[in-house]
Amino acid sequence: MLPVIFAFVLTLTTSVSLAVPVTVPSSLAVQKRFGGFDIPIQRVRSNSLRRRGDVSGEIGLGDDSDLLYSVPIQLGPTLTVVQLDTGSSDLWVTSSACTATTCGTISSPSYQLSSFNASGSSVTMNYGDSTTGTHASGPIGFDTATLAGIAIPVHPFTAVNSTTNTVIQDGAAGIFGLGFPAGSDIQAAVVQAQSGSLDPTDSFLNGTYQYGPLLSRIAASNQLESDVFSISLQRSAIDVGIDNGTLTLGKLPDGVDNSTLTWVPVRLYDASEGGLSAPTFAPNEVYPFRWEIDIDGVYLDGKLLANSTIPATGGVSNTRVSALIDTGNSIIRGPTDVVNNVLTTVSPNYNPSSANAVAELPCTAAHTLAFQIGGQMFPIDPRDFISDSTATNTKTCQASNIVGTDPPSVGALFRWSLGDPFMKSTLVAFHYGNLTHPSVDPPRIGFLSTVPADASALLTQAVDDAQSAGGFQSTLLFLYLFCYHF
Ligand SMILES: *[C@@H]1O[C@H](CO)[C@@H](O)[C@H](O)[C@H]1NC(C)=O
Ligand SMILES: *[C@@H]1O[C@H](CO)[C@@H](O)[C@H](O)[C@H]1NC(C)=O
Ligand SMILES: *[C@@H]1O[C@H](CO)[C@@H](O)[C@H](O)[C@H]1NC(C)=O
Ligand SMILES: *[C@@H]1O[C@H](CO)[C@@H](O)[C@H](O)[C@H]1NC(C)=O
Ligand SMILES: *[C@@H]1O[C@H](CO)[C@@H](O)[C@H](O)[C@H]1NC(C)=O
Ligand SMILES: *[C@@H]1O[C@H](CO)[C@@H](O)[C@H](O)[C@H]1NC(C)=O
Ligand SMILES: *[C@@H]1O[C@H](CO)[C@@H](O)[C@H](O)[C@H]1NC(C)=O
Repeated sequence: MLPVIFAFVLTLTTSVSLAVPVTVPSSLAVQKRFGGFDIPIQRVRSNSLRRRGDVSGEIGLGDDSDLLYSVPIQLGPTLTVVQLDTGSSDLWVTSSACTATTCGTISSPSYQLSSFNASGSSVTMNYGDSTTGTHASGPIGFDTATLAGIAIPVHPFTAVNSTTNTVIQDGAAGIFGLGFPAGSDIQAAVVQAQSGSLDPTDSFLNGTYQYGPLLSRIAASNQLESDVFSISLQRSAIDVGIDNGTLTLGKLPDGVDNSTLTWVPVRLYDASEGGLSAPTFAPNEVYPFRWEIDIDGVYLDGKLLANSTIPATGGVSNTRVSALIDTGNSIIRGPTDVVNNVLTTVSPNYNPSSANAVAELPCTAAHTLAFQIGGQMFPIDPRDFISDSTATNTKTCQASNIVGTDPPSVGALFRWSLGDPFMKSTLVAFHYGNLTHPSVDPPRIGFLSTVPADASALLTQAVDDAQSAGGFQSTLLFLYLFCYHF
């Protein structure tokens, strides 16, 4: 029987405690010079969306599409675990007021409200697209947040008392949004309660240093060597689930040379696109909203795919093709017509219009979906392209790690959302830049492909191993490979 939770924890390389908010005492200025932090990411296998008993053999190959990456965080008295989400900007955890009926099964410690400094405001945060929407709501308050040994006093977060978000069944007590201030409902609620209005955006932007998302506050404190953070899930040659994900803060991972990354600017959102309006003190600024970048082209097995012809909504650009970089998304989402093109190419019998359409293909069929970014190709490891099988043999797999999503709209300009299969194939580094004056220091993202040259051969090897091992009960290695590593 396979473990339900297969979590990896890296040890901390640094443990310091310092104050981070705007009011940094000058006595701490010396701390500016420390290099950076490695924050351990725990990876667990999602269970909630899986069919029960799957690992005993009913569904064949494991499915890696529900992996959730999480980090430990201390909030006041409570040490818990939160999902790492580059696709949103707020920090929330379930609180002790989140009862079973409003929260379902919570699998990590809930925040104990004993030292909660309530702001008096509350918020409802919404997640997902039109088909996967969930919410989390509760009072906003302050407590000390400690991440990788960095303690940030009086940090705002939501002590959630009601949620439909499945992360709480999947090993996390909440979500740690790494996005930009413009996407933070918490910052907006706290500033609005204090200033009465978010228009003009002067107070909102100035409030970033005090009430903004945790990592952006740390970055803006100028106490890190660099305002960069990076997320990686490294692969070793054979890949039997022993590698751990890493979040670095203030530096790139050890041994990674910045010049090997491809850096591209973050797509900015003007007010008509759902972004912030410029403040009176910087009337020409356009602000970042999401960790989103332009895509030059999407390729399947080396062939350039036609663009989507599905119209954008709300008057936003129909032609610009961009992608959200989203660790909170366990799969790849793209335009429905392009996704159908991909699936019918790899699985000629696939019929997108049938009710329970699944794209089946031989497990050994190595297909490479690649995204061209900044002139470079970033392939998804062929082993991440496939997922579990409905057949009771190890020969048939599904291409279910890629699904269709909504066209661009106000506040969500992207055609693609590159989730964990992409993140597992690529080291991604994130620079917030100057949060109040992005034109001075623009936000940017760097990419480095980590797909081994022999990825296709490794796929064949893994399938061969499983098949020669016999039935599913004895294909532990194979299940490890497909359930837990990719
Ligand atoms: C991954 O995490 C596990 C569990 O904490 C640890 O035993 C192992 O040494 C880590 N592996 C690497 C390569 O750091
Ligand atoms: C409570 O939060 C407010 C911000 O709303 C802050 O000014 C105050 O210092 C906090 N009090 C404590 C005891 O942390
Ligand atoms: C949840 O928090 C909100 C906002 O503070 C509050 O109005 C509501 O009564 C709380 N609900 C529960 C079930 O505790
Ligand atoms: C916000 O900050 C800017 C620049 O630092 C300053 O000029 C302005 O007065 C501040 N506005 C508010 C409303 O705090
Ligand atoms: C890495 O290089 C890019 C592109 O030259 C630059 O924008 C960024 O600041 C550099 N980051 C670090 C951590 O040196
Ligand atoms: C897709 O659209 C982009 C932006 O308009 C364009 O640069 C690119 O050439 C198009 N790709 C194809 C395959 O037509
Ligand atoms: C951002 O740029 C503005 C304008 O140049 C500057 O005043 C401010 O200090 C910068 N912020 C940070 C955190 O460096």
